[in-house]
Amino acid sequence: MITTYKAAPDIDVLTSSFPVPGFGLIPINAFVLHAAEPVLIDTGAVVESEDFMTALRSVIDPADLRWIWLTHTDFDHIGSLHRLLAENPQIRVITTFLGVGIMGLSAPLPMDRVHLVNPGQTISVGDRTLKAVRPPAFDNPITTGLHDDRSGALFSADCFGALLADVPQSAEDLSDDELHQGQVFWATVDSPWLHAVDRAFLAKSLNEIRELHPTLVLSSHLPAASGASLERLLSSLEAVPAAPPFVGPDQAALEQMLGAMTGSAPQ
Ligand SMILES: [Fe+2]
Ligand SMILES: [Fe+2]
Repeated sequence: MITTYKAAPDIDVLTSSFPVPGFGLIPINAFVLHAAEPVLIDTGAVVESEDFMTALRSVIDPADLRWIWLTHTDFDHIGSLHRLLAENPQIRVITTFLGVGIMGLSAPLPMDRVHLVNPGQTISVGDRTLKAVRPPAFDNPITTGLHDDRSGALFSADCFGALLADVPQSAEDLSDDELHQGQVFWATVDSPWLHAVDRAFLAKSLNEIRELHPTLVLSSHLPAASGASLERLLSSLEAVPAAPPFVGPDQAALEQMLGAMTGSAPQ
């Protein structure tokens, strides 16, 4: 089920929690930025498109949207993309050259409806300027987050996500330990290359986020966090290279899980 809440007077969050058996819950967020030219940031999971559209209609008339900022093309971000493009011919999709290329392999984006950005570039949406930001952690080279100069919010795509036992509405409701453990674990899953990254390079990219002084950090996979939590968020990522690498359950573990669910012993 997708629910909504306000992270700021001009920002609605559309959120659901996806269970990862044995590991916890991962929030999946999209955002409506009520700019003069309204922007939808990501479009939910493919499996939840119906629910997503209902939740979206509760916070904005989709006919009013002018932009979809696609942080990247993973299945938890493109769920209602084509439905919205078909429903509202005014929407243009902000993405990267690689984003257009990857979508071309499954559901092509019409070229007259895309607007390409690279990290560091900006786009005006009427009453504010959005700056494309490459987050310090990501699972897909298409990824661009964004910083809104009016609200001060940083939309960080998958970066700063966390696997959690429960998903509160605000990251401030998580203890330091819950946030740290959840974030470190998620980063080892989503950005396993962080184990091989040069620590000075990582520190530099974390500092670039610090220097944005975001008032809010809105990750696709974490409850809304205020700027006051920024140092907690950054220090978790700094710890990832030293954390144990994620190794997924293998076939024996899967059979054990299935046996526990059905009450039968593994073969
Ligand atoms: Fe992703
Ligand atoms: Fe994601």
